[in-house]
Amino acid sequence: MRYKNFGITGMTVSEMTLGTWGMGGVGWDNYDEETKADAIKTAIDCGVNFIDTAPAYNGGEAERFLGRTLERLGVRNKIRISTKCGNVFVDGVVYRRDGRYDKIIEQCEESLKNLRTDYIDLMLIHWPDPDTPFEETMRALNKLKTDGKILHIGVSNFSIGQMKEISQFGVIEAFQPHYSMVNRDSEDLMKYAAGKGMGVMTYGSLGGGILTGKIREYREYAPSDSRNRFYKHFKEPMFSKVMKLLRVMDGISEKNGGVALSQIALNWSAQKDIVSTCIVGAQTSDKIRENCAAFDWKLSPEDIATLDSVIEQLNAE
Ligand SMILES: NC(=O)c1ccc[n+]([C@@H]2O[C@H](COP(=O)([O-])OP(=O)(O)OC[C@H]3O[C@@H](n4cnc5c(N)ncnc54)[C@H](OP(=O)(O)O)[C@@H]3O)[C@@H](O)[C@H]2O)c1
Repeated sequence: MRYKNFGITGMTVSEMTLGTWGMGGVGWDNYDEETKADAIKTAIDCGVNFIDTAPAYNGGEAERFLGRTLERLGVRNKIRISTKCGNVFVDGVVYRRDGRYDKIIEQCEESLKNLRTDYIDLMLIHWPDPDTPFEETMRALNKLKTDGKILHIGVSNFSIGQMKEISQFGVIEAFQPHYSMVNRDSEDLMKYAAGKGMGVMTYGSLGGGILTGKIREYREYAPSDSRNRFYKHFKEPMFSKVMKLLRVMDGISEKNGGVALSQIALNWSAQKDIVSTCIVGAQTSDKIRENCAAFDWKLSPEDIATLDSVIEQLNAE
């Protein structure tokens, strides 16, 4: 594993963060509890020290599973946990934003209970709530920080304007945007956030799994599946473009001794200065091991340039 400073938080985090959306049991393929717990143990054994979750992941189920597992493994104090607030799970397809003072306090108390811990390393506002002034949401988060219930405050899915506005009401130390080889929309936001000293943790690092190269046939997913409702590249016209990108990645894999395509995707992100750590959702030990092995080697500047130019070309098509 490789490690980086996580912005001004003072934390040193693994370049891979384990994501737990799928472990909540909604939005992805499902596995039994033992398989998922083994995956968490394997990630920690491979050097992962940062785990991302949210109460929105199946109404707290991902948090509860993570809390149970970390307690059983006895490793809470070795792991940094980021969780989120201000986004309420309704039914797997619909989520409701709620940044009101009382809701933020209530969600944090619930997360502490779910995670079986008395502090949360990083609390992120999951999505901006257009109906609540940032001052009100930050009043709640600053109180939780003063009380020692959360150690750091961050934001996810915010624009630069929103980051500027919310920073008037407290210190924002982290940013969690969507970012991968198939979605570079947040690059300017990440430059801004990193320039302000925020730790940048990117989500969807494998494009929801498509960048592993293990899905090469077009298929339809259920309405509640994240590959249907959240990640757009499983649908045309993006699907066919990603298939072309995978063929270039196949060539780079061959040049690098047959490395897994997921490792190319992860290094493409992790090797950037504006990325502190990339979040990856994987629920089985074999996938975790394959992903963590990305951090045993690096892409050459030539390979990165090849990938960047193909991505640019495909975006322009
Ligand atoms: N802040 C936000 O709004 C936000 C939004 C989305 C995600 N996130 C966070 O970011 C995390 C990561 O994003 P994500 O989970 O949505 O997408 P992702 O990491 O890009 O992709 C996850 C998918 O890739 C598959 N996968 C992982 N490693 C693999 C491998 N080596 N071979 C084959 N398949 C592999 C997983 O399979 P299995 O699940 O079947 O193991 C899952 O289907 C989430 O878990 C969550 O913590 C945050």
